[in-house]
Amino acid sequence: MTDQLDAAGRLRHLLTLDGLPAPMLQRLIERARTFVPPAAAAAPRGRELEGRTVANLFMEPSTRTRVSFELAARRLGADVVNIEGSAASTVKGETLLDTVYTLQAMRTDLFVIRTAESGAPAEVARRVADDVAVVSGGESHLSHPTQGLLDTLTILQRKPDLDRLVVCIVGDIAHSRVARSAAQALRTLGVRELRLVSPPELKPAPHEFPGATWDSGLDRMLVDADVIMALRIQKERMSATEIPGASAYREQYGINRTRLARARPDAIVMHPGPMNRGIEIESDVADGPQSVIWTQVANGVAVRMAVLLTLAGRSQAR
Ligand code: NCD
Repeated sequence: MTDQLDAAGRLRHLLTLDGLPAPMLQRLIERARTFVPPAAAAAPRGRELEGRTVANLFMEPSTRTRVSFELAARRLGADVVNIEGSAASTVKGETLLDTVYTLQAMRTDLFVIRTAESGAPAEVARRVADDVAVVSGGESHLSHPTQGLLDTLTILQRKPDLDRLVVCIVGDIAHSRVARSAAQALRTLGVRELRLVSPPELKPAPHEFPGATWDSGLDRMLVDADVIMALRIQKERMSATEIPGASAYREQYGINRTRLARARPDAIVMHPGPMNRGIEIESDVADGPQSVIWTQVANGVAVRMAVLLTLAGRSQAR
């Protein structure tokens, strides 16, 4: 894997949370906190990235992640270009790398890349110029580092003592980059217990989630949980025959009020979005008092501001 750190041990690209040291995760999260506006206050802005260009290359669908990277970059004064799936020249046969070289020739300083292709963000990171940074906006089922950071920030805002927490991630763990990145950050930062719940056919390989426990029985895994994270079924990463039936899935794995009552009374409920209401989560839970789903979205902008500043801030000299 491409080293994300430079010779001085500073973050050069952000491709995965796997292996990032705890102090680095903490610094990114602390920096993100400075961009979380107090309730009802205007969104924070700065001019630190004035003169810089951020390119969002999204080869898979995205609403939250793409828009929040764009807002984060604009709120720091950067120019932003957005290239999305069907509008990309990759549909005309241009490789992703040639698209990157094209935008680099136009003086792009930072690329945000979302792709279904494992290894593509690292490959781009190896090929770009020395003063250009690459951030993964979601790589296949493997990693979604800024999501992992925003999920961790959201948990810490409500429950600062990670070493006391039981976190329960529920759903299509096998195909979830969100679960992988959250698990990596939470483990590095010392979460007490990480529980994974999925149908047996969506069970992840244990080595991908070291230290976590897995079970197919949601009701027993919810007992005493402080944090419940529901996930969407990643149909786009399965063949038609692998996709679980919606009503059976809702019955066994949907987060509803009855199930929520098994967790701790102050448990929080998370979902990275997009939600399939009535399948993995019921509306009264998603919109209920224990939901922090919109806080996650808000924190996404703050985390991306922190990441852009950390990476693009390195090449001030240009
Ligand atoms: C997720 C993703 O794309 O990985 N969404 C997001 O970035 N907030 C989860 C999903 O698509 O289910």
